[in-house]
Amino acid sequence: MSKASPVNAMITAVGHYVPDRVVDNKYFESFLDTNDLWIQTRTGIKERRYLDKDKPNSFMAIRAVNNLLQNRGISAEEIDVIIVCTVTPDMPYPSTACIVQDAIGAKNSWGFDLSAACSGFLFGINTGAKLIESGSYKKVLVVGSDKMTCISNFKDRNTCILFGDGAAAVLLEPTEDKEYGIIDSILHIDGSGGEFLYQPGGGSLHPASHETVDKDMHFVHQDGKAVFKVAVVGMADVSEEIVLKNNLKSEDIAYLVPHQANMRIITAAGERMKLPPEKVMINIHKYGNTTCATIPLCLSEYWHEGKIKKGDYLVLASFGAGYTWGSVLVRWAY
Ligand code: UT7
Repeated sequence: MSKASPVNAMITAVGHYVPDRVVDNKYFESFLDTNDLWIQTRTGIKERRYLDKDKPNSFMAIRAVNNLLQNRGISAEEIDVIIVCTVTPDMPYPSTACIVQDAIGAKNSWGFDLSAACSGFLFGINTGAKLIESGSYKKVLVVGSDKMTCISNFKDRNTCILFGDGAAAVLLEPTEDKEYGIIDSILHIDGSGGEFLYQPGGGSLHPASHETVDKDMHFVHQDGKAVFKVAVVGMADVSEEIVLKNNLKSEDIAYLVPHQANMRIITAAGERMKLPPEKVMINIHKYGNTTCATIPLCLSEYWHEGKIKKGDYLVLASFGAGYTWGSVLVRWAY
């Protein structure tokens, strides 16, 4: 795709952090009418990680970023912009980006939180890439971090079994070699889907009150079947579309990197792209749905395992609340 900018944004480092506490499916059997077999068969999840109750989301984001800085071998003072993609900020304000900035000592940066639910990381990486392409910034951190346990309703078997806590980050820097980096993106929102996946309490519509707490309004509310139907088509469509739009074939794609909400949605997207299972990045079995962290967590883990090579084409794809969905084509540059 030809772009006016003389540079592309490329990913030059990754990092991640997951809490130590592993929670398997059997954990839920003691207090909910559910079982390991149902959860594994319907979702692909075997276990997830839970952060301690007294620790905020930024605890994970800070550690993911420090891991990234160590991998890149740079100091936090070199960072220009911090974008934290999340639905579970430590608090409405200050932004979690400010909390991360202070903790890591990124004295020369500005930044903000980005809210786009499960598509947050894709919207963040696209926004970060545009900041790099503008020529104004050289090092943009894009963090996906969510403490989903703080908005999970442990009385609702339909939702609480799905989620986990985790954080991961990528660093974007410019490259003059326009064959590499963030090559293209296709992003969408459709607010008519809002009623099927939302958190009603805690915002200006229903500020926190005894009533909102009594009615469990600060938790995730999801019509799973309704979301499943659109997600399975939406994520597959947009993954296939970006490959065709860039005149690539399935054999050219090293990995599909899908949002990890349900193994059946992931498999459908991989099949539509005619990719063998080993070319689809998966971590849902270990972490469940970590919302904004799923995609960068896959990237960071696969990179640490030496499975991503320079020149690899990756298709990042997501579908989530909003509705929000999209795909980003990346050619790995290091
Ligand atoms: O990440 C953001 C985007 N979100 C998604 O992409 C999630 C999309 N949706 C899904 O992944 C799936 O719809 C779920 C995993 C949430 C649910 O799977 P499903 O196959 O769509 O199940 P269902 O909601 O249609 O429920 C089937 C049955 C129901 O029982 P009846 O009515 O058939 O008797 C549920 O009550 O399974 C029951 N059920 C459970 N049973 C055991 C629902 N949750 C559970 C559970 N354990 N945890």
